[in-house]
Amino acid sequence: MNKNIFSRTKYGDLVRVYDFLEYLNFGNISKKSRDYFLGKFPFKAKNPLIAACGTGDFVVEYIRTEKPDALTINDLSTEMLERTKQRIHDLPWDGKLSVLHGDVTMLKQSEAYDFISITYFISMFSPKPRLELLLKIKQLLRDDGLLLIADYMKPHRFIMFPVYYINWFVVCMFFWIFSHTKPNVLGNMERTFEDADLEIVKRKYFIGGLFGAFLLRKR
Ligand SMILES: C[S@@+](CC[C@H](N)C(=O)[O-])C[C@H]1O[C@@H](n2cnc3c(N)ncnc32)[C@H](O)[C@@H]1O
Repeated sequence: MNKNIFSRTKYGDLVRVYDFLEYLNFGNISKKSRDYFLGKFPFKAKNPLIAACGTGDFVVEYIRTEKPDALTINDLSTEMLERTKQRIHDLPWDGKLSVLHGDVTMLKQSEAYDFISITYFISMFSPKPRLELLLKIKQLLRDDGLLLIADYMKPHRFIMFPVYYINWFVVCMFFWIFSHTKPNVLGNMERTFEDADLEIVKRKYFIGGLFGAFLLRKR
């Protein structure tokens, strides 16, 4: 997240704490995982949706790399959407932007999306609501569309487990204190993909699997 834009707001203070947590998490690895598949998609999406876009870090990189003709962004928070719109406005991009404010699970679209990205979002929910979220988001995806998920994962190397739990504890405490998320969020993300009947097309693990980026499609 860009500290300079938010430095004088209360939200800016939160972003600084978030940046510090990122530092504890081996330095902006979440950005690396979010952006990993940019420039590597098997097709150019005509109708992409970036859901729960937050302050627009991924949106900006997506526009720079993929140069879509049209893009839909969504977030529950108007402040986040305003930040993202402001950053898009500063880009040399003249594509068509649609902004959908509200709960991603309540979106009503006229046409299914051929690409959806949800990054650093579903890991904040415990396994059952996480699966429900994913199933709702899946309904927005075209049958041959791609879903990008980059998020915190359970590591695949035993040696990383202590780091994982310490980091998770810090991240969960942060969200718990500032956004009332219960810290009961640990769980295997890949299990959720399986339960949602999503097939992993490509995957990339970071830091022994503490972070992951996945391209998924409907089975
Ligand atoms: C941790 S931030 C991640 C933002 C961004 N995707 C990223 O990778 O940096 C989670 C975002 O999800 C948004 N959010 C939470 N619940 C949502 C919902 N039900 N529908 C849409 N957005 C939601 C929040 O407002 C916040 O901007």
